[in-house]
Formats: sequence, C-alpha cells, structure tokens
Amino acid sequence: MKRIGVLTSGGDAPGMNAAIRAVVRTAIYKGMTVVGINRGYNGLLNGDVYEMDVRSVSSIIQRGGTKLFSARCKEFKEEAGVLKGVQACHDMGIEGLVVIGGDGSYRGAGDLSRHGIPTIGLPGTIDNDISSTDFTIGYDTAMNTVVELVDKLRDTSHSHDRCSVVEVMGRDAGYIAVNTAVACGAVEVLCPEKEYNIEEMIAKMQASRKLGKQNFIIIVAEGIGGSQELAKRIEEETGIESRATILGHVQRGGSPTVRDRVLASQMGNYAVNLLEKGIGNRVVGIRGTKLVDYDIQEALQMKKPFDDDLYELTKVISI
Ligand code: ADP
Ligand code: F6P
Repeated sequence: MKRIGVLTSGGDAPGMNAAIRAVVRTAIYKGMTVVGINRGYNGLLNGDVYEMDVRSVSSIIQRGGTKLFSARCKEFKEEAGVLKGVQACHDMGIEGLVVIGGDGSYRGAGDLSRHGIPTIGLPGTIDNDISSTDFTIGYDTAMNTVVELVDKLRDTSHSHDRCSVVEVMGRDAGYIAVNTAVACGAVEVLCPEKEYNIEEMIAKMQASRKLGKQNFIIIVAEGIGGSQELAKRIEEETGIESRATILGHVQRGGSPTVRDRVLASQMGNYAVNLLEKGIGNRVVGIRGTKLVDYDIQEALQMKKPFDDDLYELTKVISI
C-alpha cells in the first residue's frame, strides 16, 4: 500500500490529533503518502482533502479537537453515499483508510472495506462506549476535565453548605459518570446502566447531614438527564440548598492527558501497520496494556461490561 487516507468522524475527542500525527508519521516512515480528509466522510465525498507531510502534524500532539475537523455525514449512511466514497478513493489513489471515531464511524469503515477499500477504525470518543476496547481515545482527558470542574464546584458548595448536582456527558453510557463519581467523592451517581431510587438517595442525604456532612455532590449521567428538576426536588425534600450544573461540551475540549496521547499514538501506529500488510475491516482496541484488533462486524456485536463493583464503591465510601 503506497497511499492512505485519514479522517476523524462523529463527536471530536481530545487525542484525535495525536492519533492523526501517529498515522501520518508512521506512514511516511514506511514510505507511504498520506491524504488528510477534512470533516469526516463529508470530505471524502466532496474532495475536501490535502496531502499531509511530516510537518503538517507538527505541534498538534498537545492540542484538543481535531486538525482534520469532524462531522456527521448523513449521505454516508446510505449505500449510494458509500459507493461515491469508494469511487472517490479510487479517483484519488487512496488504497486504504484510517477512520478515527465512534461506532457509527466504524459502520462506515466496514462499508468501505466491504467495497474493497481496506479501512481501519480507531476508537475516538470521550464516552468510552466502544465494546472492542477497554479505553477510547479522549475518555481519560474528559474524565480529568470533569474532576477538575467538580472540584471547583465543591469549593463553592462547601462555602454555602449546598448540594451540587452535576450532569456529565456519555450519551447512553455511564462510564464517565461512575468513574468521576468515585474520583470526586460523590454521594450518589445516577447512570443508565443501574436502577436508582431518588427516595433512598434523599434519605441517605438526610442521614449524612445528621452525621455532619455539609455539602454534597451528585453525578448524573447525560443518559438520565433531568438534573435541574432533581436539584429542585432535593432542595424541596431535604431543605438543603441545591444547584444543578450541566458541564456540556467543555468535556470534549482541552489538551489530552498523557494516557490519551500515548494510547492515540500507539493506535495510530498500529493502524498503519495493519494497512501496510493489506489488512482492512479491522478496529483497534486496547485490552489491559495490549493493543488488539478485531473484525469490524464482530466488534460492533460486542457488549461492554459495566463495572458494578466501582458503582457499589460510591455507595460504601461516600457517607
Ligand atoms: P460516532 O462515530 O461518534 O458514533 P455517528 O454515529 O454520528 O458518530 O457516526 C459518524 C458518522 O459515521 C456518520 O455521520 C456517518 O457518516 C457514518 N455512519 C454512521 N452510521 C453509519 C452506517 N450505518 N453506515 C455507514 N456510515 C455510517
Ligand atoms: O459522543 C460524544 C458526545 O459528546 C456525547 O457524550 C454527547 O451525547 C454527544 O456527543 C453530543 O453531541 P453533539 O456534539 O452533537 O451535541
């Protein structure tokens, strides 16, 4: 393989730039040329592409966002769009592709592979909701951002003896919520994977207050939502002044952590190694400390276990 493309697709995530850099530098090291495709599959369909040299990825390893921009491309979900993409690859001499994104992006990567363009998917999303990997690129940074922000909220909650209800991202997954709840000492975490009982939570808060607890953090996963209403209800039923904060897109930005930079660099390198061998239709993941790859369709069928023990831990150590 002499010429490959790289794109980022779906919601951006810190570390995508580090992955792009690793793809470009590894490919050039191996004597390939690299085409950067802007704005996800849109760029492939519109010819919004440029050749990337070694210096084109200088000084991006530390930057959040994605140098190649990202987008969600409706047209690519249809077979006609995929065929147009395949033709665009042939026209531009792109023999293989690296797609950095979530599971929607993986489906597009599978479609391209099925039509003869070997494509490798890398897990780029803050949500960590990709079953074929223990960790996605961007997840660690997003969790660190949440912890930093909740620590700030705790300062003001403490001063006012308040309860802070904090809504964190994750789409339908509660991985960010559960981990940050433990890390922030939250009294409760509400996430889609687990049933919850607001009456019990309120009773626990009242009991804790009697034991001298003055401020409270409650983490609510985006998939549960309703944090404003929850704050209001807590205040009404406990008398504890409560405020809701929806952290929002700030969780998607910022300089990637060491962990995300290293993971993204390893995965970008691994993807090019697969393409070099002519292998496509694979997604890259990490299991423990080992990089792995799976067939895309197989990966999309996998189920990710939820860490029940970690969830239970919040109940034990936050009283
Ligand atoms: P993510 O990759 O973060 O899950 P999306 O689900 O929005 O984000 O998917 C990103 C892009 O991947 C979509 O805009 C579309 O271009 C492509 N895509 C999603 N689903 C499919 C599909 N079933 N077939 C082909 N391409 C798809
Ligand atoms: O997948 C990443 C994510 O930030 C989710 O946590 C969230 O549900 C979604 O994307 C938000 O998407 P948008 O950027 O389109 O508002």
